[in-house]
Amino acid sequence: MVNSQCIEIPDGHKGYSLSNFCVPKHYEEDLENIMIPSGLIQDRIERLARDIFQDVKDEPLTALCVLKGGYRFCTDLLDKITTLNRSHGSVSVPVNVDFIRLKSYENDESTGEIHVVGGDNLSSLQGQNVLVVEDIIDTGRTMQKLLGILWKYNPKTIRVASLLVKRRTESTGYRPNFCGFEIPDKFVVGYALDYNEYFRDLNHICVINENGKHKYAVTKQNGS
Ligand code: HPA
Ligand code: MG
Repeated sequence: MVNSQCIEIPDGHKGYSLSNFCVPKHYEEDLENIMIPSGLIQDRIERLARDIFQDVKDEPLTALCVLKGGYRFCTDLLDKITTLNRSHGSVSVPVNVDFIRLKSYENDESTGEIHVVGGDNLSSLQGQNVLVVEDIIDTGRTMQKLLGILWKYNPKTIRVASLLVKRRTESTGYRPNFCGFEIPDKFVVGYALDYNEYFRDLNHICVINENGKHKYAVTKQNGS
């Protein structure tokens, strides 16, 4: 299975000004800049779809979408794979989709724990070629824990496609098989990536600013 190279966004990347693109008014004050405009996200996913298609060839694929952050990436990726299925006369990849949900973040700090809070019966993964579709690999610990769980259900293969990989000094060194962009160590939102459930309704991947972090911070109630 290929380990495709990411597009590397360097640490010094200033991003794009909000005034050059369309951003919902309700987030205008909350974003530092646009790191990856939605058009570039789509173009990159088109290529990831091709790489996955060529890697899997004729075998059926079970896409396992990691909700909620992976939902847009998963839909766009599968759309593009199914477009290839229609246009390639000789090769096609039958795809089915399954969903799981993990929780590992509150504010922007990792709690170090993953909780599976939803999803189908994972025993259906037995013998399948699984494609885990994730929005972001941060330290890599969550994905490694998830892979440990998934392998227990005896799938035939597991591939991981992550739209983003963050450059973290705390990284375990884990790399997905397919990766869209390697990004600087900044908290990003948009394209289904959230900050306390906000910003999923933003098309571009943006860097949140202090105002946004403050405005949408989780306030801990006494006794809860
Ligand atoms: N944004 C949203 N969710 C995340 C991030 C991020 O930068 N890193 C890990 N989970
Ligand atoms: Mg995620």
